[in-house]
Amino acid sequence: MTRPRQVIGNWKMNTTRTEAVELAYRIGTVAPRSAVVGVAPPFPWLAPVADVLRGGSVQLGAQTCSAYAHGAYTGEVSAGMLAEACSFVLVGHSERRTLFSETDDIVRAKLKAALGAGLNAILCVGESLDEREAGEHELVVTRQLRAALDGVPGDAGDRITIAYEPVWAIGTGRNATPDDASTMAELILTASGELGLSNPQVLYGGSVNAANAESLIAGAAIGGFLVGGASLKADDFLAIVAAADV
Ligand code: PGA
Repeated sequence: MTRPRQVIGNWKMNTTRTEAVELAYRIGTVAPRSAVVGVAPPFPWLAPVADVLRGGSVQLGAQTCSAYAHGAYTGEVSAGMLAEACSFVLVGHSERRTLFSETDDIVRAKLKAALGAGLNAILCVGESLDEREAGEHELVVTRQLRAALDGVPGDAGDRITIAYEPVWAIGTGRNATPDDASTMAELILTASGELGLSNPQVLYGGSVNAANAESLIAGAAIGGFLVGGASLKADDFLAIVAAADV
């Protein structure tokens, strides 16, 4: 069954409490026709943003979760705790992989923790600039997928979304071309199908904005967007939602 398109805003470590609430309020007024719209605010703003979004259609998510269930893990937030407040969580974002040393094994453990807690997961994969220039992008992304999905039951496919986010496109203003994004999305769909995942969906992320969203979504394999910088401005984010919500 074809899944509805998704547009997810990753606010990263941005916004004051007041800004988060205002942004959520603006986004919460959108009534998408068919797309799923979600936002992932910083941890401390999950509760106030949940209050704003309550009763509406915009989904709430977290930007990461612990690989552990509970216990003496200072500073960590478990997937079970998040499941009380959110419906989804990002796993394996490239900033987590590169700045916080998240290995493929950690990403897999987090993915399993998220699914086990009943959360939907957005698994992020993508190659670095060096890897792209060396022609290794397909290999790298396939390796990341294999590693993350190892042991994940195929019927969890409906609850897993894969975000293709080339690292060189994140926050750089340099997006992948629609052709490149679509080619990689097709590769990811094929590889995840071969890994036994039922009904996977692929988002594109990396410098998505109001001006390029329409051409990027034209790729048949692109099921929506994971948006960073442009998700912090309600008008820009809503324009991206409009481009995907057809
Ligand atoms: P960007 O970030 O849209 O600012 O490039 C995307 C992401 O990191 O998810």
